[in-house]
Amino acid sequence: MKILVTYSSKTGNTGKVAEAIHQVLPGAVLFPVEQAPNANDYDLIFVGFWVDKGTADAKAAEYLRRISGKPVALFATLGAYPDSDHARESLDKAAEMVPDCFVVDRFICQGAIDPKLIAWMSQLPPEHPHAPDEARGKRWKDAERHPDDTDLHNARSWAARVYYGKKS
Ligand SMILES: Cc1cc2nc3c(=O)[nH]c(=O)nc-3n(C[C@H](O)[C@H](O)[C@H](O)COP(=O)(O)O)c2cc1C
Repeated sequence: MKILVTYSSKTGNTGKVAEAIHQVLPGAVLFPVEQAPNANDYDLIFVGFWVDKGTADAKAAEYLRRISGKPVALFATLGAYPDSDHARESLDKAAEMVPDCFVVDRFICQGAIDPKLIAWMSQLPPEHPHAPDEARGKRWKDAERHPDDTDLHNARSWAARVYYGKKS
């Protein structure tokens, strides 16, 4: 089985998860999405993205839209909590980008938010939808530590389950 792992990552979080996933997939190749080969030449494709405004970032989205009729496993990192509606909906939106593929499974974890974005959000007026408040400040702080060793362990276990599920 030919396996491709590809990912888009602006500040490195999704790249770390992609590397962890790649480690457990026998014979898989790993490419940043900018250098990825044609996904349609592979039997199983893992595509990773960072969540940008509630959906897959533009580079990953463009790549996803070119995949056709293949099993696809989606993974992502985001600033929000991985068990939030926002996380689920972000994955749903990415899945909608591959309408004629079978989405085998999905994985998501938190990833540290670019300090430049935090600095920008920190100065927003209180009426702005992204203005800082206590809950948001805690979420930003919690995200700082991710992806951590547990996330990477979970990503490896997830990828192995996907792989062995496809093989048998
Ligand atoms: C411009 C921008 C937009 C973002 N939008 C969201 C968002 O809508 N929801 C969210 O939970 N996190 C958002 N984030 C946080 C990133 O998804 C998160 O930090 C991710 O781990 C970055 O991954 P990377 O290091 O692979 O680039 C945003 C970050 C940036 C820089």
